[in-house]
Amino acid sequence: MKQIESSLGKLKLASCVTVASGTFGLEYLKLKDADGKPLLPQESLGAYVSKTITYEAKAGNPSPRLYETECGLLNSIGLQNPGLKGFLNNDLPILKETLRIPLIVSFSGSSIDEFCEMITTMEPYDEIAGYEVNVSCPNVEKEGIAFGADPEVIYKLVSRLAVLTDKELNVKLSPNVTDIAQMALAAQEAGASSLALINTLWGMAIDWKTGKAMLSKKVGGYSGRGVKPVALALVYKVAQVAKIPILAMGGIHSWQDALEFIYAGASAVAVGTANFTAPGAPAKIAQGLHEYCKANNLYIRDLIAKVK
Ligand SMILES: Cc1cc2nc3c(=O)[nH]c(=O)nc-3n(C[C@H](O)[C@H](O)[C@H](O)COP(=O)(O)O)c2cc1C
Repeated sequence: MKQIESSLGKLKLASCVTVASGTFGLEYLKLKDADGKPLLPQESLGAYVSKTITYEAKAGNPSPRLYETECGLLNSIGLQNPGLKGFLNNDLPILKETLRIPLIVSFSGSSIDEFCEMITTMEPYDEIAGYEVNVSCPNVEKEGIAFGADPEVIYKLVSRLAVLTDKELNVKLSPNVTDIAQMALAAQEAGASSLALINTLWGMAIDWKTGKAMLSKKVGGYSGRGVKPVALALVYKVAQVAKIPILAMGGIHSWQDALEFIYAGASAVAVGTANFTAPGAPAKIAQGLHEYCKANNLYIRDLIAKVK
């Protein structure tokens, strides 16, 4: 699928379509269509991005922690994950055996030192092609304010990480900030080789009959169809100033959605919430992009940031 090849910093992607952290388990790759063929041939994906891991295992938040709105999804999963050791001992061997595409590990720490310890521990594993640094989590050294909300903290964190790895170092930005472009530039100056955006927006739903919040944590992360125009504008805004490539996500459900993000400035896209209602979505999107590009003699790499 030459037409939809792309690259993300140091990684060559056979497809510009990937999956968004936390929305796509390996079990998806085992699904079959009605004819018994794989619903999601992994070759349709340019890379696999794993669920964010933290240093210690996390049980996540109590239920209810998912709520579907009119045009999107609210979640407050609370980064449920097996922790770094659990991931390396139990999940990574399975990922290594299963994946024939680059593995990007999403991780997050509660302090800069913890982020550094995590990346140092993961470095020897050749099956890890790159990292997605999730900076949407609270920083215990700064009264719990998210790392991604302060350009100085982003700079400090990413410059410490950049010297610890030669692998792809992607920084995933939060949209819950006043000026995302400032955060993107801080990550770039500090040595990030690519950016990912957007993580979820703050969101909430309340049952008007009972006055009860729909999520146990009351407020959660909003994703899916409703966030697409916001995500597109933020990708466009960042692409105007950043020189490093962007992996874009936020409400992508179709190949046409994906193409809009490419025009806005993305080098690759990730499918997130769409996986919950259409598990074959990433493969369908890759196929649709391929057919469109082939029919029109277009190449994705020539369309990046070409919005008129
Ligand atoms: C249930 C759920 C879990 C998520 N978990 C993570 C996560 O662990 N790490 C992360 O960086 N983003 C996580 N995200 C955010 C997605 O990766 C993505 O950035 C966001 O949902 C926007 O894309 P979408 O609208 O296509 O879902 C999660 C999203 C959802 C819906």
